[in-house]
Order: sequence, then C-alpha cells, then structure tokens
Amino acid sequence: MKNLLICGGAGFIGSNFVRYMLDKYPDIQIVVYDKLTYAGNPDNLEPFSQDSRYKFLQGDIAEHGSVARALEFNRIDTIVNFAAETHVDRSILDPDAFVHTNVMGVYVLLEESRKHGIERFLQVSTDEVYGSIPEGAFEEGDPIEPNSPYAASKASGDLMARAYHVTYGMHTIVTRGSNTFGPYQYPEKVLPLFITNALEDQPLPLYGDGKQVRDWLYVDDHCAGIDAVLQNGRPGEAYNIGGENEQHNIDVVHMLLRLLDKPASLIRPVEDRPGHDRRYALDNSKSRRLGWKPEVGFDEALERTVSWYKSNEWWWRKIKSGEYQQYYEAQYGKRLKG
Ligand code: NAD
Ligand code: TYD
Repeated sequence: MKNLLICGGAGFIGSNFVRYMLDKYPDIQIVVYDKLTYAGNPDNLEPFSQDSRYKFLQGDIAEHGSVARALEFNRIDTIVNFAAETHVDRSILDPDAFVHTNVMGVYVLLEESRKHGIERFLQVSTDEVYGSIPEGAFEEGDPIEPNSPYAASKASGDLMARAYHVTYGMHTIVTRGSNTFGPYQYPEKVLPLFITNALEDQPLPLYGDGKQVRDWLYVDDHCAGIDAVLQNGRPGEAYNIGGENEQHNIDVVHMLLRLLDKPASLIRPVEDRPGHDRRYALDNSKSRRLGWKPEVGFDEALERTVSWYKSNEWWWRKIKSGEYQQYYEAQYGKRLKG
C-alpha cells in the first residue's frame, strides 16, 4: 500500500482520514479524488495542501474515463471510497443523486479497479444499512434492511463490493461506521447543525420525541478503525466500527447546550422525519479483534468538537451563506413555522 486514491476526500470523514494517514505513514502518497458537490469543500484540504505527498483531482466516481485516468497516471494500488451522498433528509427530498453516486459510482469504481488491478479496495459504509434495532446490537452477518433511500443506496455499494470479491477475487472490504462527528462536518448533520444554530441563537429543530438512539463515534476513532481494517481486514468481509456510545438525541442536545452555555428554550420539537430509524447499535467484536477500539470519550470528543466550531466560524459561516439556505428552507421552513 503506497499510492492511495481517497475518493470523497474533500468531505468530512475523508479529509480527516487524509490528515490521519499523512501523519501516520511517512512514505504514503495520497491522491484525493472528489467531485466537489455541495458537501465537498477545498477548505477541508487546506491543512495539508502544501504536503508534497498529497495531490487533489476533481472528478466523479461514476465516470469511467475520469476514474481510469486517475488510476493510471498516479499508479494507484489502493482505493478507500468515502465518496457518497450522505444525508438522510436530502435522500428523502430527492434520491436521484444517491443512486448516481452510491450505486452507480461504487460500481464504476469497482469495475475500473478490476481492470486496473487495484490491490485493495475499501468501501466506507454505514450502520444504517442494517436498519433499526430495538435492543441488542447488529453483527456483520445480520441481514441488511435499509429504511431510507440513503441507507438503501449505501447497502447496494456494500453488496457490489462483496460480489466483486466473490466473482473476481478482488481484495474488497467494507466498513460500517456509526454516527460520526468532529471538525469539518457539514452543518446539515445534527451535531454541527445544532452547534452552529445555537451559536447563532437559532432554534434547534428536534425531530419527533427526541428519544431516538444513535451510537456516537469521534471522527479520529472512525479513521483509526478504517485504517485497521484496511491493513488487517479479511477480503470480502464487512467490519462494524461503532462508537460504543449510545445516546438519546434529546440528551445529546442538552449536553451541547450546557457546553455552549445556551438555554433549553432553543430546542424546538418539529415534525418527525418519515421512516425515522429509532435506534442504531453495533457489535464491535470483529473489529476489536483487529486491535482497534474507540479511544476518545464522548464528553471529551463533544468538547473538542464544540470548541472547533467556536474557533472556526469562518469555515461554517461561508457554508451557511450559500446553497445551504435553499436546503434549510426546503427541510425546515414549514417544520419551524408549524
Ligand atoms: P460528506 O457528505 O461530508 O462528504 C462526501 C464527499 O463525497 C464530498 O466531498 C463530496 O464532494 C464527495 N462526492 C459526492 N459525490 C461524489 C461523486 N459522484 N464523485 C466523487 N466525489 C463525490 O460525507 P461524510 O460524512 O464524510 O461521509 C463519508 C463516508 O462515510 C460516506 O460514504 C458515508 O456514507 C460514510 N459514513 C458517514 C457517517 C457519518 O456519520 N457522517 C457514518 C458512517 C458512514
Ligand atoms: P443525522 O445527523 O441526520 O444522522 P442519521 O440520520 O444519519 O443518524 O441525525 C442524527 C439524529 O438526529 C437522527 O435521529 C435524526 C435527528 N435529527 C433531528 O432531530 N433534527 C435534525 O434537524 C437532524 C438533521 C437530525
């Protein structure tokens, strides 16, 4: 593993992963391949833009020619695919781009990888492919029962990666991470949305009764988990990467408000998300056997995240002044008036 193509590296987890890998492996060469959709942000790549081991290419993972050129010109041997449409609410408003990138895009990447003899292919996936679980925790062999267009499109990617291993003998692996948070997360996901809204004294639109459960994972731990699976995972298999930290949404909101010293009156219960999964939970036994485990405690991770958004207003204010406003109106306009 020397020449990595990091697809979707201009997004939240991808950009954190590039930094993680550059810090950890002195001899690595990294090419970020990213379409720069609304969620892809060159500002996320700024911290390592001068590193000679790093290079950026703009391109769509669903375009054969452009992927083929990226692989050939850079002698890529390993691909880690973060590129995806990632927000459940957007997939409910308009699933089209989700099928393009998360289904077709993953297929094109796999097919070009096969043609170009790529040695290792890691598909970054999500716990949402399993669906909701009232109690206990999902293991990798459990059936996948995705409930949102986002989750269903991601599940397709998992299955295609598996099929390329079984059919063509390719070294493909899938990771299924839980809800991730930390610096550089686009403020449509609940934590950065609520942190930045609270900093602006704007309402925090809490879906339904707020008793849904998510398993929160700090981004550095997610990156370490992906690296562990990339190095030591068995081809053709999937690995859960969970935070081992289940929280009700409403409790997380109160923790945030305390950290920000803002009043609970900012919380605004709004109409629920259709098909809203009640609870996610992952069994990490398999990834723990690779020597990985989540390291950063939730309180500390939340503090670090809040403090990053407080000190980097320039980053999120720029985002919130653009395309974001139309999305916000479509998603929350009626909810917040109702
Ligand atoms: P993100 O939305 O912040 O970034 C996605 C990136 O993919 C952006 O840079 C975007 O420009 C790029 N992209 C989108 N379509 C593309 C295309 N067709 N071709 C090339 N690039 C394209 O996402 P994220 O939160 O960093 O998530 C990264 C991956 O991790 C995704 O595959 C997601 O499903 C998975 N995941 C995310 C979470 C989470 O909580 N955020 C949890 C588990 C798994
Ligand atoms: P989100 O960050 O969208 O992640 P996911 O749906 O992929 O788990 O949402 C996390 C939880 O927060 C989920 O239960 C939905 C809830 N939520 C709200 O209550 N209000 C919001 O405005 C958003 C975006 C999410």
